[in-house]
Amino acid sequence: EKGGYGTFMEKEIHDQPKAVEDTLLGRTDASGRLALDELRIDPEELKGISKIIVLACGTSAYAGMVAKYAIEHWVRVPVEVELSHEFRYRDPIIDDSTLIVSLSQSGETMDTLMAVRYAKEQGARTLAICNTNGSTIPRESDAVLYTHAGPEIAVASTKAFLAQITASYLLGLYMAQLRGKLFQGEIEDILADLHKIPAKIQEVLDGGEQIRELAREMAQAPSVLFLGRHVGYPVAMEGALKLKEIAYIHAEGFAAGELKHGPIALIDEGQPVFVVVPSPRGRDSLHAKVVSNIQEVRARGAKTITVAETGDADVVDYSETVFYVPETQPLLMPLLTTVPLQIFACALAAEKGYDVDQPRNLAKSVTVE
Ligand code: F6R
Repeated sequence: EKGGYGTFMEKEIHDQPKAVEDTLLGRTDASGRLALDELRIDPEELKGISKIIVLACGTSAYAGMVAKYAIEHWVRVPVEVELSHEFRYRDPIIDDSTLIVSLSQSGETMDTLMAVRYAKEQGARTLAICNTNGSTIPRESDAVLYTHAGPEIAVASTKAFLAQITASYLLGLYMAQLRGKLFQGEIEDILADLHKIPAKIQEVLDGGEQIRELAREMAQAPSVLFLGRHVGYPVAMEGALKLKEIAYIHAEGFAAGELKHGPIALIDEGQPVFVVVPSPRGRDSLHAKVVSNIQEVRARGAKTITVAETGDADVVDYSETVFYVPETQPLLMPLLTTVPLQIFACALAAEKGYDVDQPRNLAKSVTVE
C-alpha cells in the first residue's frame, strides 16, 4: 500500500501531482466558469463578506498564509490568518459579514474545531477546507470545500498541504468571479496555469535525486535556516517545520526581509540556509531583494541552498546548490517550491534512521486542546 516506496511520506510526496489534479477536478461548468456546487453556501452571502479570517494550525496554517496572499490579491477583501488556539482567547472582532475559513487535513483538530465553534456563536459564516469527508469540522461548518488528496497516513503533512493551497486558490478565484473582481479571461488563465501544475510537480519529483544526495551529505547539520518572501515565506516556514518534525533538527523559517532585523546574527561559517527565491518575472523588485539576501548570508559564511525558477541565472554565483522548479505565476509558486523542501526533510530523516512516518511525540490528528 506504500506503492513501492519505503515510507508513506515518500509515497505521499509522490502522490502530489494527483492530489492537486484531483482537487482541481470538476470545479467548472460547461462555460468554463468556476462552480463550487458542494460549497453549500449562498453565493449572495459570499458576495456580502467584508472580512475573511483563516484559522488553522501547523502546516495547515502555512497553507492559510498562502491563501491570504492569493485571496487579498484577487478578491480585494481583507484576510487575516490566525492560529486557531490563539484566536479564541483574545476577543477577536467577528460579525455576520465575517467569513471564517478553516483549513484542516483531518477535520478533527480540536483547537481548530473550538475556534470554528466560537466564531459561529459570534455570528460568523464558517467554511471548512478539509481533506476528510464527513469529519467534525466540515460537519459543523456552514460550507465546505473538500481537498481531494486522498488519505494521508504519514504524520508529517505533504500532499494535504498542496491540496489545501490548491483549494484556497479555487476559493479565491470563485469569490473574485462572484464579486466581479477579475475578468473571466483572467480567471481562466489562472485556472489553465493551475491545471499545468501537476506535470510541473512531477518534473520536480523526477529531479529528486539531486535533493536526496544533498540531504545525505547534510545529515549531521545541527541547524538549518529557511528564508522566503511573499508566498515563499510560508514555504520557508513549512520547510523548517518538516525538518523539525521528522529529522529532529533545529530549523527556523524567516521572512527574508526580517534577516537584518535579527536573524542574520545567527549566520556563521557553514550555517546551512535555504532560500526560496521569488520569480524573476514578478512585477516588483522582490527577486533582486532576495538575491541580495542570499549574497548577505553567503558573505558571512553561510552554505546557501536556493530553490529558484528554472532559468534564474542570478542565484547561481551565490548558491552552493540550486534546485530549479518550472516556472508558473508568482502566486502559484508554493505548489512547486515546497516539494524540494519536503523531499529534503524526508531523505535527511531517513538517512538518520528515523521513523519518517511516525515521528516521536507527534500524533496525526491532535484531538485535544
Ligand atoms: C505538520 C502537521 C501538523 C498539522 C496540524 C494541523 O506536518 O502534520 O502541523 O498540519 O496539526 O492538522 P490538521 O490539518 O489535521 O488540522
